[in-house]
Amino acid sequence: GVSSLVRVTPSMLKFMNGRKDKETGKMKDVWSVYQGKVYNISPYLPYHPGGEGELRRAAGKDGTKLFMEVHPWVNWENMLGECMVGIFVSEEQPPT
Ligand code: HEM
Repeated sequence: GVSSLVRVTPSMLKFMNGRKDKETGKMKDVWSVYQGKVYNISPYLPYHPGGEGELRRAAGKDGTKLFMEVHPWVNWENMLGECMVGIFVSEEQPPT
């Protein structure tokens, strides 16, 4: 259920975004929010038909608006299932 998902705040998103990749040691992690869900889209970057740069415009942010402006028909939930990290929550959350 939803309660077992990692809860990611805006500051956590910014912190995780741009961290070094564990295997290569290169700066590459890109974390973005799409429709309230948080994704580490790093593995998908080389495969994006619109290019890596476009994806990076949504790095550390909510990319929903950009996404919907360009290709609302794309089913990102199917494509990014493996990359999902958790759900996006506001900064101050009472303990549950
Ligand atoms: C194209 C996936 C985020 C910009 C595409 C296409 C897919 C895709 C499947 C091909 C669509 C088609 O030909 O009908 C994704 C996924 C995203 C994402 C899974 C989220 C992780 C974004 C964002 C932007 C963007 C945030 C803009 C800032 C573009 C552009 C194209 C494109 C400009 C057109 C490329 C072309 O036809 O030359 N994307 N996209 N995408 N995407 Fe994304």
